[in-house]
Amino acid sequence: MRRALVAGNWKMNKTIEDGRKLARDVAQGIAQENPSGVDVLLGPPYLALTAVAETVSGSAIGVAGQNCSHHPDGAYTGEVSVSMLRDAGATHVILGHSERRELMGEGDGLIARKAAAASAGGLTPIICLGEPFTTRKAGKTLEHIAHQIEHSIQGAFTSPPPGGFIVAYEPVWAIGTGLTATPEQAQEAHAFIRERLEDIFGLECAQETRILYGGSVKPDNAADLFAGPDIDGGLIGGASLNGGDFLEIIRAARTDSAST
Ligand code: 13P
Repeated sequence: MRRALVAGNWKMNKTIEDGRKLARDVAQGIAQENPSGVDVLLGPPYLALTAVAETVSGSAIGVAGQNCSHHPDGAYTGEVSVSMLRDAGATHVILGHSERRELMGEGDGLIARKAAAASAGGLTPIICLGEPFTTRKAGKTLEHIAHQIEHSIQGAFTSPPPGGFIVAYEPVWAIGTGLTATPEQAQEAHAFIRERLEDIFGLECAQETRILYGGSVKPDNAADLFAGPDIDGGLIGGASLNGGDFLEIIRAARTDSAST
């Protein structure tokens, strides 16, 4: 049985002090409500990682980096390694986000190398994929996703890595736009991703791997999206910057949410 996971991707937002405050708000909300069956991750920018990890230490909340280098160390100006992320308190790292693919020119091959390095270094990679609008309009969404799985996930691992990995399906046209995939569109993509994982890595890996939906998840649409049997929670951008909204989304993912 997969546990739900709600992860906040703060992107390039929050100073160290603001990050500490947001992490405190989320941790206090979770301590009060004790939501069952849902894991929570916060993904602050690098500079706020240590402060956020210190703030949530002792709680059930984990911390994720938003990117990492595939190199272990060395002369790579501006880069941050897997061991540095771990040292700062991260347990997970978001990789292959469409903003990095589109704005920083990261391709599937590089993402695969980063995923392999993260996993070997003890971080659980959250590997993002999803189609642009033109691809969906052309009816090629599943083809596009299959290609990304083959090159950014199968390219990273010949067999399921010991700590596992997480997939985030984020249709590019839904990110930060206020447009969301319908629950049916999201479920179709997630079921397809799980089928492909089964073909590549076998049934156990496919059943255990959590597949998150990302793209304009808000308090008012989260429960409908998370109801899909292959949707194991969300990767939340804008709404994770507000403690109240993020907590409401966490509530929508809890296994005891039916009556709340
Ligand atoms: P929004 O929730 O702001 O659409 O961002 C989604 C996202 O990119 C999470 O990684």
